[in-house]
Amino acid sequence: MNFFTDDMRRNPFPVYDQMRSVSPVFNVPPPFNMWMVFDFENVKRVVNDHETFSSRVPAPDNWFLFFDPPQHSKLRALISRAFTPKSIASLEGRIRKLSSQLLDDALAPNQLDLAAKYSVPLPMKVIAEMIGIPASDWTLFRDWSDTMLKLSYSMRGMEKDAEAANALAAFRTVTLEMDAYLANMIEQRRTDPCDDLLTRLIEAEVDGEKLKHNEILGFFQLLIIGGQETTTNLINNSMLCFMENPDQLALLRKSPELLPSAIEEVLRYRSPLQWLMRTPKQDVALNGQTIPAGNLVLAIVGSANRDAKQFQNPNQFDITRTPNPHLAFGHGIHACLGAALSRMEARVALQDILARLDHFELASQQPWEPRKALHVHGPAALPLNIRIR
Ligand code: HEM
Repeated sequence: MNFFTDDMRRNPFPVYDQMRSVSPVFNVPPPFNMWMVFDFENVKRVVNDHETFSSRVPAPDNWFLFFDPPQHSKLRALISRAFTPKSIASLEGRIRKLSSQLLDDALAPNQLDLAAKYSVPLPMKVIAEMIGIPASDWTLFRDWSDTMLKLSYSMRGMEKDAEAANALAAFRTVTLEMDAYLANMIEQRRTDPCDDLLTRLIEAEVDGEKLKHNEILGFFQLLIIGGQETTTNLINNSMLCFMENPDQLALLRKSPELLPSAIEEVLRYRSPLQWLMRTPKQDVALNGQTIPAGNLVLAIVGSANRDAKQFQNPNQFDITRTPNPHLAFGHGIHACLGAALSRMEARVALQDILARLDHFELASQQPWEPRKALHVHGPAALPLNIRIR
């Protein structure tokens, strides 16, 4: 079984349904040699039980997402000081402005690639501004981001080893560039502090400890990678869900106060990240099988979020669903730090799009091409036929 074909990545859900009922904990044979976990209960356990399942996985080793306690706890506490609900909420006006500028430029009669013109640039500009990168450097920032994302275009066990080696070499080069750029920015903030995330990161202190330069660099990279592709897909996937479920779109247009719960339902129904990775520290029994210490485990949140044991009519897109305890933002000590920001971005984006577009539909009958990063679910492009209000 190949989980990474385009068909599968467009619509993995029937296979997920099957796997949950037949083999919720599945050992993928060599060359992959890893485990996939499909049901809600076990996915939640794997993601949550950090005593047993380490976050150390084959990935960049300076991103605190991949650290375990106590290093993770220290960094998370420091970063949370800079990443407060208040500082996130204060971005709303700016996000509205960016959104409306992008739509002003993008909306021409009849056709638009929403991904290229809107859902990709919006989160990019938000993160760049939040970090404090001037608009003149946004293309540079975009290149870094693309290079880092290429690390997820293939997996261990896939044939394209040369590609993976190239991606890693490019990542190292970009890390050096970013390091130099960041050193310069930090120097500026030290002499001339301003109201941005970087200044707050430099100043943050917990128990007399501050972030080290390398820790700020790792966080900076993690934000760039974590804050963009995910939110882009939340917006695009919302549009896909609305087009597939016109009754739900009509309901939302009639009852706009349902927008926050509609966004939660998109997160559940088409989770932007389909899986999270963990490594058991010791042999662990799951669903009657033993996963040996050190094996890679993929906790498939995209499948957990369709588990009928947890969600009634799980394959139905229902914007009124309450409660909706989906795992799209993870769970436990690593739960997404950017959840409030991405929810706000999606809210602003969808309000803006729905207000301006009277009607939208896919411009092509061809199945959409999935995005390249393998753990991400969503379309690479979103050409729409539109009718502007
Ligand atoms: C729809 C959008 C998003 C989704 C679906 C998402 C999903 C996730 C998930 C599932 C995790 C947990 C990973 C794990 O346990 O292995 C996570 C962690 C994280 N996310 Fe997000 N994310 C989104 C947006 C953002 C944004 C906008 C930011 C930053 C501005 C961000 C920053 C982070 C960070 C820093 C972590 C690491 C937290 C830790 O390890 O303690 N995310 N995200």
